[in-house]
Amino acid sequence: MDDVLAVPDSASAVFGDRLELAVAYAERLAGPGIERGLLGPREVPRIWDRHILNSAVVAELVDEGRIVADVGSGAGLPGIPLAIARPDLEVVLIEPLLRRSDFLTETVAALGLEGVRVLRSRAEDVRPRAGFDVVTARAVAPMDRLAGWTLPLLRPGGVLLALKGRSVSEELRDSAASLARMGAASWRVEEAGAGVVDPVARIAVVVAGRRGTAPKQGARQRRTN
Ligand SMILES: C[S@@+](CC[C@H](N)C(=O)[O-])C[C@H]1O[C@@H](n2cnc3c(N)ncnc32)[C@H](O)[C@@H]1O
Repeated sequence: MDDVLAVPDSASAVFGDRLELAVAYAERLAGPGIERGLLGPREVPRIWDRHILNSAVVAELVDEGRIVADVGSGAGLPGIPLAIARPDLEVVLIEPLLRRSDFLTETVAALGLEGVRVLRSRAEDVRPRAGFDVVTARAVAPMDRLAGWTLPLLRPGGVLLALKGRSVSEELRDSAASLARMGAASWRVEEAGAGVVDPVARIAVVVAGRRGTAPKQGARQRRTN
């Protein structure tokens, strides 16, 4: 196990003096995370590159002191690596399944991650008092469904950062009409993690427009464009 979980050199640059927390998280993923079925056993040799570092590099796109919701967090990806790399952020991990939200609560406590909260809920049922600055999501839903769940969680001007991989440009192009209809002000693709992960992370950045705040329960969303 130790060899498979060898810490890549680039991890020090990403996590700095919080590298030990990232190592503890890697061990939790490879231990209880696998035992409890949150990650497949074949993922163990890829825990650092494909999961932890690929998640943490999203930090490049998040400004200082932001309040972040990680939707469909699963075993904590990308929310926990992001919170470890960036203690200046407040992070809410949103996950509906009990088995996963229990793992998240235990992990946040075990690592002593201040500023991280777990909310057991579906994204579309969350009604934040004030919109989040940033929503992150990885491998949760196709873009138009994801935007439908997450744009209402954002303050106007807030951003959805969706880790989408190679298909990101096509997904954004195919969802353009829905994004406009749901009130997105703009959208683009950004890359993150050059020199840290190969291939670099490709991230859909969707900016919430004025209608990006949570609609009242039962309110209909109107066409914006
Ligand atoms: C494929 S997993 C990805 C987990 C994690 N983001 C990752 O990259 O490893 C999808 C996650 O989305 C969660 N999910 C599904 N529907 C959801 C919804 N409506 N709101 C929030 N989370 C949801 C699932 O419970 C699951 O944990």
